[in-house]
Amino acid sequence: MSATAMKRPTIPAIKQTKLLIDGKWVDPIDGKSFETLNPATGEAIAKVAEASAKDVDKAVKAARKALESGPWSKTDAADRGKMMFKFADLIEKNKDELAALEALNCGKTITDSYGDIDGTVNTLRYYAGWADKIEGKTVPVRGSFLSYTLRQPVGVVGQIIPWNFPLLMLAWKWGPALACGNTIVMKPAEQTPLSALRVGELALEAGFPAGVVNLINGFGETTGDALVVHPDVDKIAFTGHVDTAKIIQKRAADTLKRTTFELGGKSPNVIFADADMQQAVDGAFHAIYFHCGQCCTAGSRLFVEDKIHKEFVDRLVAKAKGRKLGDQMDPTTEQGPQVSKEQQDKILHYCNVGQKEGATLVLGGKRHGDKGFFVEPTVFDGVKDEMTIAKDEIFGPVVSVLPFKGFDEVVDRANRTFYGLAAAVFTKNIDKAHLYAKAVKAGTVWVNCYHIVDTTTPFGGFKMSGQGRENGEAALEHYTETKTVTIKLG
Ligand code: NAI
Ligand code: MG
Repeated sequence: MSATAMKRPTIPAIKQTKLLIDGKWVDPIDGKSFETLNPATGEAIAKVAEASAKDVDKAVKAARKALESGPWSKTDAADRGKMMFKFADLIEKNKDELAALEALNCGKTITDSYGDIDGTVNTLRYYAGWADKIEGKTVPVRGSFLSYTLRQPVGVVGQIIPWNFPLLMLAWKWGPALACGNTIVMKPAEQTPLSALRVGELALEAGFPAGVVNLINGFGETTGDALVVHPDVDKIAFTGHVDTAKIIQKRAADTLKRTTFELGGKSPNVIFADADMQQAVDGAFHAIYFHCGQCCTAGSRLFVEDKIHKEFVDRLVAKAKGRKLGDQMDPTTEQGPQVSKEQQDKILHYCNVGQKEGATLVLGGKRHGDKGFFVEPTVFDGVKDEMTIAKDEIFGPVVSVLPFKGFDEVVDRANRTFYGLAAAVFTKNIDKAHLYAKAVKAGTVWVNCYHIVDTTTPFGGFKMSGQGRENGEAALEHYTETKTVTIKLG
């Protein structure tokens, strides 16, 4: 839907704020709740139930029961797929409401929210198709034996997701988990619980038996931690900050849980002088400013070849000056607020540090407006590799421009980070494109494009940007255990 064709959405009614445990919407045992906000105004939208460790325990028990003795344990793989298709259909049917809810709670523009709902539906349909295609092997063992492998669910999986793509992250995690027959206890991000709660209702309508999906709202250090340390959870799948992943890995160690992590990055976007200038400017712009820079793959280190550096920065700045900031519910808005005051403060702090360390602030660096959590599109030029703004994940609309001279130099500098989630290159030279794609240490590489992420292709990080892969066939490996069965013949 184009922005011009789209009408301003009506503010959706908040239909669900409780915990989803064992197929029922329940109040938390301790009766606690917390407010969730509209980041454009900082005002509360609703109060949602807050799960304590006791509620987490209830949800884990429900998921265990559903896995081992409930109807789910006897559901044919094809029927699991059918439920998932129905679930995807229901999300599509309620697309307008869900897009509006996502925009309201997360601050992403209504146009981007529609994109997220499409991605959510595509992901669920893709994995619905996998449900009855996850096969074992027969293995040519020595001796008079028949050996074959079974691929069985990992078990009860705990899933902890962030606030930047609330529904899409839910789909990336529910899709493969359900296709493989696992049961789920999910903690949505405390900033953005509303869309997950609404699709929790749709999951029940789609027919998933009680306990297959459970939703426990709450904060990381309490609710999230209770899930991570729970002895009856088999796996934790997490998306968020690298430092949170380190805590989770340590906390999960006592029970030796399987863990998969999708963490952030400081992704290098390299522009060679032979690139199509307009395509490269547009690409670099989208790389950093899409969803206010709140993307794990944000192209925050922008390497520009010396020869075109000045013209390139001028054109990027001119484009950024034209960006329309404002109310995320207005279809003509291009950039909404950051998700929270905490994020806004963090980004503005980095804008100060950048100036103190000697980078040139060419544009932005300030709060936009006097209400909500907006930050101006920001460009720092003349950034050096060792500066803080070239090393830390800022997670905001702040790009660091780093001039370079040669191919080997830029590849070496691009790789000098402990992150390795994504990388991009803009060039018309096919050799440079392929050599860069091979040499750069990142789980995803884009050539002459940026942020193209499809549910069919593996996604994840090298180095400290993650462990394991989501999307594509690759994700199935992390949601199955392989069992070898050997039979004596004759
Ligand atoms: P975070 O990593 O603290 O939170 C992500 C999720 O983990 C949330 O659901 C949170 O409640 C949960 N969590 C936090 N601490 C936990 C713990 N000890 N045990 C279990 N669960 C825990 O990220 P946060 O604080 O929201 O944002 C901070 C920074 O993290 C951002 O500025 C950004 O740099 C990065 N980030 C990266 C994301 C990505 O897509 N890779 C997404 C969100 C944030
Ligand atoms: Mg945190």
